[in-house]
Amino acid sequence: MKGDGVMNVLVTGGAGFIGRWVTKKLLDDGHQVWIVDNLSNSSTKNIEEFTYYENFRHFTHEDIKEKGKLEQLFKEHQFDICYHLGASINVQDSIDDPETTFANDTIATFYILELCKKYDTKLVFMSTCMVYDRAEDESGIQEVDPIKPASPYAGSKIAAENMVLSYFYAYGLPVVVVRPFNTYGPFQKTGGEGGVVAIFIHNQLDGKVLNIYGDGTQTRDLLYVEDCADFVVAAGYSDEVNGEIVNAGTGRDIAINDLALLIAKDSSKIQHVEHIHPQSEIPKLLCNFEKAKRLLNWEPKISLEEGIKRTEKWIKSVKG
Ligand SMILES: NC(=O)c1ccc[n+]([C@@H]2O[C@H](COP(=O)([O-])OP(=O)(O)OC[C@H]3O[C@@H](n4cnc5c(N)ncnc54)[C@H](O)[C@@H]3O)[C@@H](O)[C@H]2O)c1
Repeated sequence: MKGDGVMNVLVTGGAGFIGRWVTKKLLDDGHQVWIVDNLSNSSTKNIEEFTYYENFRHFTHEDIKEKGKLEQLFKEHQFDICYHLGASINVQDSIDDPETTFANDTIATFYILELCKKYDTKLVFMSTCMVYDRAEDESGIQEVDPIKPASPYAGSKIAAENMVLSYFYAYGLPVVVVRPFNTYGPFQKTGGEGGVVAIFIHNQLDGKVLNIYGDGTQTRDLLYVEDCADFVVAAGYSDEVNGEIVNAGTGRDIAINDLALLIAKDSSKIQHVEHIHPQSEIPKLLCNFEKAKRLLNWEPKISLEEGIKRTEKWIKSVKG
């Protein structure tokens, strides 16, 4: 870190949906930020506005499995923190092609971990709520609750989490594992590969039917993306969470049936279709974020209703 508190920061997957918001928060906080992303699930459109920030240093179009190229970046810029968000994120893709997810989510994380150790860089590892078994009651899922690798996506993230934490115990490397719950908001993809909120709003605006996989009683704790980014960034700034796993969510869950009705406002516009991966579905995802509140003084600010409004406004603006 330079004497003025300005840090050199690397964001992997920084051109993606959450990554671009994490980058924006870091830029707004005055840090010098570099992004590495292979654009496999994103576009430079997401980061166009960052060219107006003089502290946005560089976008590198590269794969995080390219160890040598990554090392050049680490060597040249001596990062204080690496926010590692680059990953394959789709559950169904991980079932169809587990090797790709394992390579991107586990093996590439190992490469990044090695570089963090070599260059003394704090690592914030972006895991997910999809590693949990299920919420048993209304108190929500705590970090100590059971995990379950219900898909190769979850399995790859759990494997990576364990490697990340092992570098804290074995080498004293400052690391933190963050597990945000399902995140939505502007810049999320609205097609089949996007998130449920973005897909529902997009279809509603197009006058299309909203498809629900299975009976729709499965619940999600939906986190607005700027709340998610504030949480992820705060985990990097704080030494309190080194060696820890920390959740973020809203503490409220909603059944997919109710979410569809909230967005469609008309039950005739909703239909149930056969689930594509019932074996990997998690019936109840509700976050207990008490640890994030205690250690990071973080809590969500945006309600689901307000978040849906903002997301709808953005989707309308890009549809033209
Ligand atoms: N969206 C959610 O609800 C959610 C919730 C919790 C955690 N996460 C995690 O947050 C992170 C970001 O997810 P997102 O929703 O923004 O998805 P995203 O697909 O928009 O972001 C991932 C980014 O990583 C990039 N990427 C993928 N493989 C890469 C590789 N080999 N080399 C370089 N770049 C690569 C993609 O191009 C993309 O820009 C992921 O690690 C995901 O597992 C997402």
